Amino acid sequence: MSSRSRMRWAGVLSCLAAAASASAADELDLAIKMGCISCHRGAQKLIGPPYQAVAERYAGRRDAVAVLAEHILKGTGPDGLGWMKEGRASLPFMPANERVTAQEAERLAAWVLAMKGEIPGLREYVTDRLSVTGNVEHALDLSVDELRNFPAPEVKEIALVSESPATVGRLETFRGVPLRTLIEKAKLVTPGRNDLKKTIFIATASDDYAVVFTWSEVFNTEVGDGVLVYFEKDGRPLTEAEGRIAMLSAKDIHRGARHVRWLKSIEVRKAVD
Ligand code: HEC
Repeated sequence: MSSRSRMRWAGVLSCLAAAASASAADELDLAIKMGCISCHRGAQKLIGPPYQAVAERYAGRRDAVAVLAEHILKGTGPDGLGWMKEGRASLPFMPANERVTAQEAERLAAWVLAMKGEIPGLREYVTDRLSVTGNVEHALDLSVDELRNFPAPEVKEIALVSESPATVGRLETFRGVPLRTLIEKAKLVTPGRNDLKKTIFIATASDDYAVVFTWSEVFNTEVGDGVLVYFEKDGRPLTEAEGRIAMLSAKDIHRGARHVRWLKSIEVRKAVD
């Protein structure tokens, strides 16, 4: 999270005058970084049970933080705890969260136990506009509807198998606008003879996650065929976990790295002189 949004958070939280939740924004940052919100929401069932339901189940248990921290660290497999049997999860167990430290697991457990509804602050990350700026003739500032208005032939569907353990083998359909199309619309400004070859596109999300594409790979390799700014998945608008605008590079070997949720901007720049 940028320092500016941190400051905004500080303001919101001091209004609430709740010292106990002063770190809620940091916990959300952590949960995002560790991938928890790909599977969990506060009030909704996703792949995992809603955090609110977890908080209710463990309410009043003295060892709640320790038990949940253990489950977060090591996962709940292979038999699981039965959340799916109850209809409150769509995977029978939680995989181990290997990048989480013991101390972070305790912080996350306490954060989950305090959940009373939707995850506070999650909405702040959701983007519903995309800007294209930098070395272009026409800077773009597009809403989801405006993205939808791009001519139909420009919009394509890519089916791919997600790498997340929860969705292995599932085909997902994404609908959106190829990065190429957006760049052509904005029109590159490249006065120098070799400028194109030195041009890069920096895609940045509202949580400051950023990835880079080069002009050459987007316009001069097959990778470019799979670089898509998308707003629909499996026929539905994106949920708050991803959207409303996101980006993927379907032809990458490891797709996770250039999967950008909450896409906010694409900046066109010359990488070297
Ligand atoms: C791949 C999807 C997935 C990811 C990623 C994931 N979870 Fe889970 N989580 C689940 C599922 C499924 C369950 C239900 C497990 C069961 O019934 O055994 C669960 C259960 C839980 C529970 C309840 C455990 C209990 O004792 O009842 C907590 C707390 C939890 N997750 C927190 C987290 C946190 C924090 C993260 C991030 C570090 C995380 N989860 C990441 C899928 C996931």
